[in-house]
Amino acid sequence: MAQKISGRLLAYILSVFLAGLGIFLYVYQAYPGISIEGAIAFGLLVLVTDNLAVMLPKAGAVSVAGSILMACLFVNGPVTASLISILQLLHVADFKNREPWYKYLFNGGQFLLAVGIGGIIFKTINRSGAFALQGEVVLAVVLSSLAYFVINTGLTAIAVSASTPERTSAIHTWLYNYAWLFPFHILVSIVAVGIALLYLRFGSVSLLFSTLPLILTQYIWLLTLRERKAVLDNIINMVRIMEAKDVYTPGHSRRVAQYAEKIGRELRLNEFEIDNLKNAAYLHDVGKIQIDLSVLNNEEQLSSEARKIFQSHVTVSAEITGSITYTKPISDIIWGHHERYDGQGYPRGLKGDEIPILAAILSVADSFDAMTTKRPYRDPFPFEKAVQEIELNSGKMYHPAVVEAFLKSAQKGNFLVEE
Ligand SMILES: [Fe+2]
Repeated sequence: MAQKISGRLLAYILSVFLAGLGIFLYVYQAYPGISIEGAIAFGLLVLVTDNLAVMLPKAGAVSVAGSILMACLFVNGPVTASLISILQLLHVADFKNREPWYKYLFNGGQFLLAVGIGGIIFKTINRSGAFALQGEVVLAVVLSSLAYFVINTGLTAIAVSASTPERTSAIHTWLYNYAWLFPFHILVSIVAVGIALLYLRFGSVSLLFSTLPLILTQYIWLLTLRERKAVLDNIINMVRIMEAKDVYTPGHSRRVAQYAEKIGRELRLNEFEIDNLKNAAYLHDVGKIQIDLSVLNNEEQLSSEARKIFQSHVTVSAEITGSITYTKPISDIIWGHHERYDGQGYPRGLKGDEIPILAAILSVADSFDAMTTKRPYRDPFPFEKAVQEIELNSGKMYHPAVVEAFLKSAQKGNFLVEE
């Protein structure tokens, strides 16, 4: 969420918080009873697993804390589960990042709503209160887990759509960013039933055995993603150093990433595609590291020999990124960033929809930045002329749908060039 918050988003956050508080007060009255032992045992596990959560791009996280919360709900009831759900606010990374106060308010409300409504559904269907694998209990587990999932991801999707300037609809945001988590959530629910059954049979000590494999799996996943980020950050820094040696291109890849994101959002890409697109933008010219500055600075007046050398930067960039496990997924985008919609581009001469759409976006963003910055052989184009140039080349150099998105975004003032 952005640091600057709109009135609309603030009203939404306050509503979520108040609704969460209201549901908690209702649950507290309707299903009284707190298990201290359960709160301590499950609470500790929620603290650990939530702090090892794998963050999703933009907002939301994946962790097995959900399994633990649901198991606690099944055996200790909704009040204990609601109370320990609040422990998820003690997320060390949020403190380190100095997340704004309203994020805690939103998260708190969201936790109480998801567990509270899940709890009400569970208690309403499972009237006997017993927990065993039989019809009523299974139905209660399925529906309460479903409610927990939809509320958690749904509220996050609404917040993401409200905090994105393009105002993508919340349903679209949910479908393209969070719906894929559903199979994972089914697994979470099955594991929750297993944890609950073992807890009822063997007590708190069973949690050590039932949750340890989950925590380890999550931790390994987290380490892998951290390593991926570290590798990406290192390469991106290398590109920055490379750009810094050339007086004409500092900040090029950063601006291209910004422009590409704006176009991507207009085209309603999901957050994973946006992430890949930005990383590809940062690294699209990494292959220029092997090209002589005299060639780079003369892009528009090259001999055919020098032109070939210049064009080889695409193959080199794509091969460098393709050879690193963590950047492999963006290599295809980089391969296509100098292809043209009419098939006259390089290095492969791809045409129309043969060019990956993310590459087609990168191509427009790259050209726009190249036109609006000073080059050794010419002054920067004024903003209007650069926009016009992109528009004129729709269907020739650029994908028409991408140009349309670019123009729409440009009208909103998204491409105002930095001084
Ligand atoms: Fe390039």
